[in-house]
Amino acid sequence: MNTLFRTKTVEQSIRDTEEPEHSLKKSLSALDLTVFGVGVIIGTGIFVLTGKVAKETAGPATALAFVVAGVVCALAALCYAEFASTVPVAGSAYTFSYASLGELVAWIIGWDLVLEFALGTAVVAVGWSGYVRSLMDNVGWTMPEGLSGPDVASGFGFDILAFALVLVLTVILVLGMKLSARVTTVVVAIKLAVVGIVIVAGLFFIKASNYSPFIPEAEPQEGGSGLDAPLVQLIFGYEPTNFGVMGIFTAASVVFFAFIGFDVVATAAEETKIPQRDMPRGILASLLICTLLYVAVSIVVTGMQNYSELSVSAPLADAFKAVGHPFYAGVISFGAAVGLTTVCMILLLGQTRVFFAMSRDGLLPRFFSVTHPRFGTPYRPTILLGGVIAIVAGFTSINELATLVNIGTLFAFVVVALGVIVLRRTRPDLHRAFRTPWVPLLPIVSVAASVWLMLNLPAETWLRFGIWMVIGVIIYFVYGRRHSRMATTAQ
Ligand code: ALA
Repeated sequence: MNTLFRTKTVEQSIRDTEEPEHSLKKSLSALDLTVFGVGVIIGTGIFVLTGKVAKETAGPATALAFVVAGVVCALAALCYAEFASTVPVAGSAYTFSYASLGELVAWIIGWDLVLEFALGTAVVAVGWSGYVRSLMDNVGWTMPEGLSGPDVASGFGFDILAFALVLVLTVILVLGMKLSARVTTVVVAIKLAVVGIVIVAGLFFIKASNYSPFIPEAEPQEGGSGLDAPLVQLIFGYEPTNFGVMGIFTAASVVFFAFIGFDVVATAAEETKIPQRDMPRGILASLLICTLLYVAVSIVVTGMQNYSELSVSAPLADAFKAVGHPFYAGVISFGAAVGLTTVCMILLLGQTRVFFAMSRDGLLPRFFSVTHPRFGTPYRPTILLGGVIAIVAGFTSINELATLVNIGTLFAFVVVALGVIVLRRTRPDLHRAFRTPWVPLLPIVSVAASVWLMLNLPAETWLRFGIWMVIGVIIYFVYGRRHSRMATTAQ
């Protein structure tokens, strides 16, 4: 029974990364990490989900939903920063929990991160494909129906662009970290420029009347009982509603997707030059920049167009079309398509690094933890996962996947916050370059905030998440527990 709670010591985690055959190159600085963070954080969330959420759930108060989600993330970020600077090893929350909460929890969190990153990559690839198709339409090229993604009604169809994007990115990642960081920098600059255009140019088209009412009155959800209602409303027996004050929280649980990614920065700890100093800086800086931009973008867009008229597929570009500026719309669509490429790439990178760390520990076959002799990258999991995710991206539609990604990520936040408290008690001696303030209060508030957002997600999402986790626990007991390095090497 004790084996379930065996922990891998922090020293051992760091030592493992020093075995040449299993080690990654240390080449990233705080600036690289911030660029990395902004590169992955700004994506489908702001470019696509803003419109849907404003139109259906929160109206102009979507800006408040971004503030709520940003606060939840900031609390979690302060916990992540302490862990990442104490345990600078690939694998993010997975490694951190291995060092503090024991092997079973580590496995659960690793399995959870696989869900977050793999489905997150697929969601963004599909969003990217939508923008590319809209650009192609501008110049008169139209993809055949069957290759434009699954049809809403029939569920058939294949998204060949999303599929191809994931495959190309897989090849780039196999060729090496440095190349991808360089590409990322250029693309991040384009993405920030586009977001800047939306904010600055959009200011001139704001109509004050669009802000009233700022928080539209609550109204019953269509067909609003059943599994698609937020769990919290079902638990407390409310009639499920959209808009109103509760709508802001429902919206926050969806636009939370827009913040996913700062935790991915933590997965690159092992590849960071001075993780103790650079990791917390990279995480917090990228989160702050994104929160400010999101609030600004959502205020501008809901001011340009009445929320009920916003588009749900390309809201930022279409708001400019609505005020008679198709040129801006084209530029924004182009920038969004370019920007989503990096988001997709970094999520895929985070995914392969977690898988790599899990296999290095023997919880998944060790075959996957041998790095490439020339490129120094974990090429085996990259190729396997890239292939699988490409297929998922080809065959699945966006909506339900995004909420599943959110619940998985929030769950990881809960575990990390608890881990900070546990590790302070069990290993007070460890050097912590960054210390979370007000422990245990702040981590406890972080847990409560994350759980609150989770409760605002649909009951259906909880069900799917539960099924995924049960499968994971079965795999652990059938494979991981016996093959774990902790079980096979002398303690
Ligand atoms: N935060 C990323 C996005 O919005 C995942 O696409």
